[in-house]
Amino acid sequence: MSTPVNNARRIESIPRHVAMIMDGNGRWAKKRFLPRIAGHRAGVETVRNAVRVCGQHGIEVLTLFAFSSENWRRPQSEVSLLMDLFLTALGRETRRLHENKVRLKIIGERGGFSGKLQEKIIEAERLTAANSGLTLVIAANYGGRWDIAQAARAVAQKVQAQQMTVSQITEETLEQHLSMAGLPEPDLFIRTGGEERISNFLLWQLAYTEFYFTDTLWPDFSASLFEDALMSFSKRQRRFGRTGDQVELEKQATTIPPKTPPGEDTRA
Ligand code: IPE
Ligand code: IPE
Ligand code: MG
Repeated sequence: MSTPVNNARRIESIPRHVAMIMDGNGRWAKKRFLPRIAGHRAGVETVRNAVRVCGQHGIEVLTLFAFSSENWRRPQSEVSLLMDLFLTALGRETRRLHENKVRLKIIGERGGFSGKLQEKIIEAERLTAANSGLTLVIAANYGGRWDIAQAARAVAQKVQAQQMTVSQITEETLEQHLSMAGLPEPDLFIRTGGEERISNFLLWQLAYTEFYFTDTLWPDFSASLFEDALMSFSKRQRRFGRTGDQVELEKQATTIPPKTPPGEDTRA
């Protein structure tokens, strides 16, 4: 998974973790006078492409927002078709993902799903758990606020059971109880479909992530457009609070100088 292949564009700095809001399926379908579900179905193909691009560039984690905790507010018919699609896509894609060494992880409030879907999720995660390639995180019935609240509840329970003290509640320990615990924070966030908002996605984890918005509707988000986003990311200077000069100096200090050819004296 981590060996870049020839047809992938050479990009200098590759993010370890990319998080995406796959938006615009409905409008894609509407433009074609098709039902909204046709857009969601076309979107599954784009997911396949995105997974392939991650493999080609050696990206470690890809997190996709598939269904938000607010999406239950949609017409019941669309919600139910989306649930069917999630179930069939899991059934159809898991084996192929497994063959490609992808490790699947589903985050979100599972209790909201049917028993059958919950079983499929457990099955897919179990099958792919030991895989060493891309970690594909699917956020389903997920909300950033829910995630922080469930972490706070888990921590409070530990304090109540005297497994933890109040002073041990820190950014680090709270983070260990979030859904993405153990995974690197997203370096790059991409939202397709033209809206420039987070829509209650990863609120905690996006604290220092680079944002990239595109008007392209999700089903049209090709490999080459994904690579445009990667290219944009590679040109950014991530300062994490420091000055640009500090970052430059550190970069130079960590660059290994080229070896001096034998016999050549470089001393002044
Ligand atoms: C995103 O596409 C997919 C889901 C939320 C499941 P939308 O369905 O939101 O598409 P638009 O925004 O209506 O075009
Ligand atoms: C966000 O998209 C959720 C997913 C892509 C799954 P929405 O289309 O639901 O977001 P809003 O409601 O327009 O912000
Ligand atoms: Mg939308």
